[in-house]
Amino acid sequence: MSTQKIFSASNPENIQKAAEILRKGGLVAFPTETVYGLGADAANSQAVCRIFEVKKRPAFDPLIIHVADPEEALSLWSEVPDAAKTLMERFWPGPLTLVLPRSEKVSDLVTSGLPTVAVRMPKHEAALGLIRALGKPIAAPSANLFGYTSPTSAAHVAEGLGAGLDFILDGGPCAVGVESTVLKIENGEGVILRPGGISAEELSTLISLKGDSALFFEKRALSPMESPGQLETHYAPWTKFILLPKSFAEFAPEFEESLKEYHSTISAPLRLGLLAFRKAPESASLESVQVLSEKGELVEAASNLFQAMRYLDKMNLDWILAEPVPASGIGLAILDRLQKASGGKIAEKGFLC
Ligand code: TXA
Ligand code: MG
Repeated sequence: MSTQKIFSASNPENIQKAAEILRKGGLVAFPTETVYGLGADAANSQAVCRIFEVKKRPAFDPLIIHVADPEEALSLWSEVPDAAKTLMERFWPGPLTLVLPRSEKVSDLVTSGLPTVAVRMPKHEAALGLIRALGKPIAAPSANLFGYTSPTSAAHVAEGLGAGLDFILDGGPCAVGVESTVLKIENGEGVILRPGGISAEELSTLISLKGDSALFFEKRALSPMESPGQLETHYAPWTKFILLPKSFAEFAPEFEESLKEYHSTISAPLRLGLLAFRKAPESASLESVQVLSEKGELVEAASNLFQAMRYLDKMNLDWILAEPVPASGIGLAILDRLQKASGGKIAEKGFLC
């Protein structure tokens, strides 16, 4: 792991140095309250192109622009409905990204040619300090290789992207731990494009959510996929990863049967890990267990999610099994990440074969 590019975000000199790198068209990874971002000057096309190269991200996947002041966002959009202003007042700075028609100031590279642009104001002093020191908005996706688990520490960033990066600002572990909620506003109504740090319940106290989008993810959660592969794989560890339909303890009969079936043909023992929601179960079959929240608290579980996934991914396991979490509040964002890491598949009898 490359550590020589990691600099403390609490030292104001490092913020200035990072801003200088951005000014010259370089890339800087920086902490936010959700996950670490891989930042470039949003107005510098070459620097924005480098983000896509370093992340190996397809050019059709647009970036979020980060601002340090709601006023800055207003100039990036061509129209700003009252619903957006209400949400900005209530949730900014914070983990809510708003998608609205873009202004001429925004380049096609950032939006992948879409007529809209996603903007958010992060709730993190280092991120805000960096944007202010640059004096311009920063375009930034999560600072991980495309498709892999997002980074919630500077070390995670260095492990995945170290070689392609000029500077990593270390602000410690991210407090929220899952990405921002991406919300598009159409005709005054909200459509959740990605569940995240601000829950559907919180949003619906202020605006109406279109087509039951508050319920959409709940319905999708743990229902069998209508068409396999409908969900792209994302946030995924290298190790085979599968979401369980219920807690490990409840799934035990199917699990034991699957294990027996597997061992009837192959004698080498399977190395299995579990991403548990609350309590580590007693099972001799599990080599490693990561508990997201001993007390079963969703907010704590979210903050530990990516760290725990990365930990298990390093154990050289054959499979990582993941328990579902309750489908409410930030739990919907956690379930979304687990489902995507699992490629939309849910474990059933015989899944190990
Ligand atoms: O919390 C976060 O949002 C983190 C931190 C670094 O701010 N950023 C992040 O960026 O997660 P990224 O690029 O990994 O995810 C951004 C998501 C993608 O799913 C992208 O497709 C979507 O936002 N997005 C960006 N611009 C969009 C647009 N104009 N319309 C629809 N979706 C958009
Ligand atoms: Mg990402």
